[in-house]
Amino acid sequence: MMEKELRHLVNVTDLSIDEIAHVYRVATATKKQIAQGVHNDALADRVLGMIFEKPSMRTRVSFQAAMIQAGGQAIDIRGKEIGLGKRESVKDVARVMSRYVDAIMVRTFAHRNVELLARHATVPVINGLSDDAHPCQALADVFTIRERLFPERDELDCLQGVTVAFVGDSNNVARSLATLCGWLGMNFVLSGPDEYAFDDAFLESVAETVGDRSAIRMVRDPREAVADAQVIYTDTWASMGQESEAEVRRKAFQPYQVNADLLASAPAEAPVMHCLPAHRGEELTDEVIDGPRSIVYDQAENRLHVQKALILFLLGVEAD
Ligand code: CP
Ligand code: NVA
Repeated sequence: MMEKELRHLVNVTDLSIDEIAHVYRVATATKKQIAQGVHNDALADRVLGMIFEKPSMRTRVSFQAAMIQAGGQAIDIRGKEIGLGKRESVKDVARVMSRYVDAIMVRTFAHRNVELLARHATVPVINGLSDDAHPCQALADVFTIRERLFPERDELDCLQGVTVAFVGDSNNVARSLATLCGWLGMNFVLSGPDEYAFDDAFLESVAETVGDRSAIRMVRDPREAVADAQVIYTDTWASMGQESEAEVRRKAFQPYQVNADLLASAPAEAPVMHCLPAHRGEELTDEVIDGPRSIVYDQAENRLHVQKALILFLLGVEAD
């Protein structure tokens, strides 16, 4: 029997376009199953080990719920207990966890920790957010964009040329979403203060990976950035680990708040997205997040469906 190839999700481009299309097909099917109350125990007896070095609500609950709904279980371990690279080496954590669980999900600071876990684990490793990337978020976001803009379509071609305007910081969420947009032939526009824009090394590496230099643009004026966008996205101005910079960032990003005034410059049908948690009154107003253009809760729900499909894919398990 051929041994199954070990696969990880460290960055969004670890999945080919065809594999992303497959994950989305399974996510659409399992989302329908859940809505119809159809039981599926494709992950019976499977265990996901989850390591959290940073706080989480959506990632923790959506991964755990995904495992339970599919008949499996998830174990949630606080980073301090494990002491990745401190109490013991990342290599040893990877090797030992691989003997206990079927897949590892990790939320950490240094992206290198995720890479090291993936290098030394003998089970799939999923990046549940690092300082550099949040691939699970980006996968669920693009699934949500297609669901909203093209509800009748089940391939990825319809997304080609769709422009996402990300008004805010060049953080982990922006980096993964920009990369995925480039990977799928979409356009990504970042609008924020110059000092918080993507650096050249990131732009260079995306251009090299996706083979397109024009997929990511930076536009300083937020009105200009959203003018032709099909989707408007924002996230916190200070990510986890940047708490000491919060005050400085609050001032710098003030002109980039997503509010009714900014939305007036965007196409009327463009939905607003946010990965959450949101800082109401900072990066976006109550009026916007609670308003008719907000799809943030669909986006949050889709984390569950897309991650369930992702685990099925990484474990090589058929969904039905
Ligand atoms: N969007 C997201 O990853 O949320 P949590 O930080 O609550 O997991
Ligand atoms: N950019 C945010 C995302 C939280 C889901 C952070 O890293 O804190």
